[in-house]
Amino acid sequence: MFVVHTIKDFGMENNTYSGDGVITGSGKVNNRLIYIYAQDFTVFGGSLSSAHASKIVKVMKLAIQNRAPLIGLNDSGGARIQEGVESLGGYADVFLQNALASGVVPQISLIMGPCAGGAVYSPAMTDFIFMVKNTSYMFVTGPDVVKTVTSEEVTAEELGGALTHTTKSSVADGCFENDIDALLEMRRFLSYLPSSNISKASTRHTTDSIRRQTASLDTLIPDNPNLPYDMKELIISIADESIYFELQKDYAKNILIGFIRLNGETIGVVANQPLVLAGCLDIDSSRKAARFVRFCDAFNIPILTLVDVPGFLPGTAQEYGGIIKNGAKLLFAYAEATTPKVTLITRKAYGGAYDVMSSKHLRGDANYAWPTAEIAVMGAKGAVEILHRKKIGDKKFIDEKTQEYEDKFANPFKAAERGFLDDIIIPKNTRYRVIQAFSKLKDKKLKNPDKKFGNIPL
Ligand code: HXC
Repeated sequence: MFVVHTIKDFGMENNTYSGDGVITGSGKVNNRLIYIYAQDFTVFGGSLSSAHASKIVKVMKLAIQNRAPLIGLNDSGGARIQEGVESLGGYADVFLQNALASGVVPQISLIMGPCAGGAVYSPAMTDFIFMVKNTSYMFVTGPDVVKTVTSEEVTAEELGGALTHTTKSSVADGCFENDIDALLEMRRFLSYLPSSNISKASTRHTTDSIRRQTASLDTLIPDNPNLPYDMKELIISIADESIYFELQKDYAKNILIGFIRLNGETIGVVANQPLVLAGCLDIDSSRKAARFVRFCDAFNIPILTLVDVPGFLPGTAQEYGGIIKNGAKLLFAYAEATTPKVTLITRKAYGGAYDVMSSKHLRGDANYAWPTAEIAVMGAKGAVEILHRKKIGDKKFIDEKTQEYEDKFANPFKAAERGFLDDIIIPKNTRYRVIQAFSKLKDKKLKNPDKKFGNIPL
């Protein structure tokens, strides 16, 4: 707290404040050690001098060494303009520690005021970013610079407010109404995470019976396979006390990611959402889920994957945007993940998306399906139109062939016969079956071949 900046220019030598605009230290959240820094916008706009940076670096190094999560409360105008290159060096020192800490301890950024320049790049290198609505902003350059360079007129809120980053850019994982909500939710969020990659997330006592059945799940899937349903109902109904901490809920809504507890243990959930784009995988949803899968894997958090996916979203926008490489991110993330993986196919599992969504072939540990599952290369109609292109005009023939294809593949039995599914389960028993599967995996040991690291298609 006694640290002051060392800037000698622009009259700054007579303008020092103890702590230099950042409070750093350690404490306990949910009775577990954490390291934290909080920037103070009232001191030079929370801007980062080399002294300010060295304070942050100090707690980052301690967090890595002592294996405790690192929390940043960010409120900073970026590099201290009066200091010049030394403050840029200070930022690089922070970025380096962000990279070194990645995968060792969870890093969480809470954006609590205007953040510009380097002040957004350090959060971007952390695992999760949360923002406060209406008072926090993140941009590389602010509205004034944008106007000068591109002639665009944009408000700070439009350019980098919480809504922008939770709906358009996906930079932020969530946002909260005010500072107090944000801090309380951070505590709740931290309770799901382990302190580091060598410790386990703490188990929370639950009174929710592992044998609790949910009869409504037996009728969750509509009779008409083209009708959607809300996958969140399934997540909530199997979770302990029906509590689900959702991440990125307003971005790429065709996939759901978040944390639940099952019999007290933290579980990462990835689920296709049939309510949006029929649950198709596209560029945004693949990226969103891939990063989450990698986080869970890095910290040994078991993953539950709930599958209802008609395939990858077709179209020029997707192809030009690189769906091939982006879809491969999720495929790669699941393939390399060694954390316990339990998969449940509720309805559709078509084409490459079947493979991607934590299939048996990607080392899914327990792969289940409901009786309503349909596992095939593609939907019956599309399949028949390709196989019998010349007879498309013959409705009776096409209908017959479609029925034939449906009878053969619109069920989970073909996959089960091949051992690609471990069991076909009754929907109302899902909570019990999934908990049982994870409990058998709690001492799972699986190691990928030795390497420096894999080259995920970034
Ligand atoms: C020194 C700064 C500062 C900075 C703000 N202040 N940013 N001082 N260095 N980077 C000071 C202001 O002079 C002011 O001082 C006080 O903080 C509050 O700032 P305001 O502008 O009055 O606040 P507000 O209107 O809320 O606007 C906040 C802001 C804006 C959007 C963050 O201040 C801003 O655009 N700042 C500059 C952002 C920027 O370009 N930073 C450098 C980026 S380059 P007084 O004395 O008047 O109270 C960078 C390099 C690293 O970060 C890149 C690594 C990849």
